[in-house]
Amino acid sequence: MLSRFFKKKQDTVTEEKTTVLETEDYTDVSPIARYIKEQTGINFDRQLGILRSKMTSFCKIRYIRSFQTCLTKVHEDSSFKQELINYLTTNETYFYREVSQIEDFVKCIKSENKKVSVLCAPCSSGEEPYSLVIALLEAGISAEKFNITAIDISTDALEMAKKALYKERNVKNIDNNIRSKYFDFKENTYALKDFVKGQVMFKQVNIFDKEFLELGRFDYIFSRNMLIYFDKETKQKARGILESMLKDKEKKIYFGHADLY
Ligand SMILES: C[S@@+](CC[C@H](N)C(=O)[O-])C[C@H]1O[C@@H](n2cnc3c(N)ncnc32)[C@H](O)[C@@H]1O
Repeated sequence: MLSRFFKKKQDTVTEEKTTVLETEDYTDVSPIARYIKEQTGINFDRQLGILRSKMTSFCKIRYIRSFQTCLTKVHEDSSFKQELINYLTTNETYFYREVSQIEDFVKCIKSENKKVSVLCAPCSSGEEPYSLVIALLEAGISAEKFNITAIDISTDALEMAKKALYKERNVKNIDNNIRSKYFDFKENTYALKDFVKGQVMFKQVNIFDKEFLELGRFDYIFSRNMLIYFDKETKQKARGILESMLKDKEKKIYFGHADLY
């Protein structure tokens, strides 16, 4: 009888929960730097101070109390990992960047007597592949003569690329005639016309993932201003991957001026 009484009592006792608040710790950012380098190639070794301050804001805004907790979350949650990658990539770009390379490319395509495939890796928010389309069309090259695949690791940048809505600073290198042919201007925004947008196929991919190689081989590759964020060893690895994706070793990969140093 007594034991029944005690059993009943036990069942009704609710466990008292205590929440222990994790101590805030935004000191050692190097595990995050290592993780980002491993995953994307981007090297923060010489910018640990900048990374630390960026990561502190990233964590605080999301109520994450330490870099260690942030890393745990990154391992557990792939959309959180993507959010972090989006946050740490530099997506700066604009139309008609390094014009001499675009002119050289147009000359090469003119001399081709077959349809050419072009890879733009990375494309960020789309200005580079769209510049190639505009330059080719302006040179009188028919849209049937080329196709362009453009990739980037950042889903935010690709979303902007697909929307193709640009501000004055993005189109500053394009003269007014070309602007009016290829963009609709409304409410301070340059909206790229659909026939240009339709010429580029965008895909989210990391150049170090096998899905990148699965894109196949290309006649021409643009890979500008990505290798600058990698260390020497990673640059070489990336270069090797890109070179393996050229159909013909005689064809060109256009790198940015600072990429190979
Ligand atoms: C500065 S933008 C260059 C855009 C354009 N090519 C240009 O030169 O204007 C660098 C881009 O590289 C992308 N990126 C960095 N690491 C990458 C990786 N491992 N795979 C694919 N894209 C990457 C970033 O997301 C960013 O959009």
